[in-house]
Amino acid sequence: MVHRIVTIPGDGIGREVIPAAVRVLEATGLALEFVPAEAGWATFERLGTALPPETVEAARTCGVALFGAVSSPTRKVPGYRSPIVALRRELDLYANLRPARSVPVPGVRPGIDLLVVRENTEGLYAGRERREGDVAVAERVISRKASQRIGRLACRLAMRRRGRLTIVHKANILPETCGLFRDEVREVAQEFPGLEVDECLVDTMALRLVQTPEAFDVIVTTNLFGDILSDEAAALVGGLGLVPSGNIGDGAAVFEPVHGSAPDIAGRGIANPIAAILAAAMLLEHLGEECAAARVRRAVHRVLEGGPRTPDLGGSATTEEVTQAVIASMEDEAIGCKEAL
Ligand code: NAI
Ligand code: MG
Repeated sequence: MVHRIVTIPGDGIGREVIPAAVRVLEATGLALEFVPAEAGWATFERLGTALPPETVEAARTCGVALFGAVSSPTRKVPGYRSPIVALRRELDLYANLRPARSVPVPGVRPGIDLLVVRENTEGLYAGRERREGDVAVAERVISRKASQRIGRLACRLAMRRRGRLTIVHKANILPETCGLFRDEVREVAQEFPGLEVDECLVDTMALRLVQTPEAFDVIVTTNLFGDILSDEAAALVGGLGLVPSGNIGDGAAVFEPVHGSAPDIAGRGIANPIAAILAAAMLLEHLGEECAAARVRRAVHRVLEGGPRTPDLGGSATTEEVTQAVIASMEDEAIGCKEAL
């Protein structure tokens, strides 16, 4: 069976790391067909929309996409909306999965293996922001339905891992929104016997993540908290150049590196492609190609261990050199997927 994968490089280093990830996917030898699509700031400047309807349709039809990063202005630009936020909404990609695992790179703390499960469609990102004279207001939307479905997914994932779930909220200050979220997740967690569930206030969580990140397995939380905590977790395991994420819905899934378009290094050929390559590995797993996904991860592990490494990891290698090293390491493996079965 041929898997069709939509590729959306976007802006900045998205255009450097997505082609690298595509080459790694090709090196798996699987029957893959790539469907190029566009989104982002450059697309907005050219077409007047940051997310052309054809891109949404391609992702909907193929069911999986690999997304790079887009540049979003920090000021309001009429007609512009962050395409990744819009894509999550359009395809109802309700869960954002952000794993953070220790890697064999000098200076990276060992023993961390956690997964942040972030609600991806509402909270403070619901897009309900307005100006009332001299006051600006953002509404934080939390629904029973969205809290239950993210809760269930987080429980399922925790049961496949070490069986521990931590609900992160701020219900002491936000008893309605965070209270609803916490209560609904606790309710659905009862469907999973044996699951160990606890909860933590988000500010304490920020502290505990730095102090004892090894203690956590699956962390489930609302949109903005999840965005911030997963970047924090990324810093603990080697930085933004290494961490992937998946936006999961019932009908489609979009995988992307956690990092943005990095305009400070774009165009220099030194972006770390590992985050995008690991996002591609998550995509393979989602497609049921676990063996190929594991092969990509093992190759990444070996390259991180022995180099070459890009400058963000203290090395001096280029995107191209790291990509080639990953592909070479995959080819070196004595046992391919078919033989292993
Ligand atoms: P950023 O993630 O682009 O960069 C933060 C820092 O990390 C920079 O110093 C950058 O050079 C470094 N970095 C990031 N990825 C790297 C990689 N693969 N290899 C080596 N170094 C890497 O975040 P920033 O600077 O806050 O945002 C830049 C632009 O990206 C903005 O327009 C923002 O809106 C956008 N952005 C887009 C995202 C997306 O498309 N999902 C997510 C985050 C930001
Ligand atoms: Mg972020």
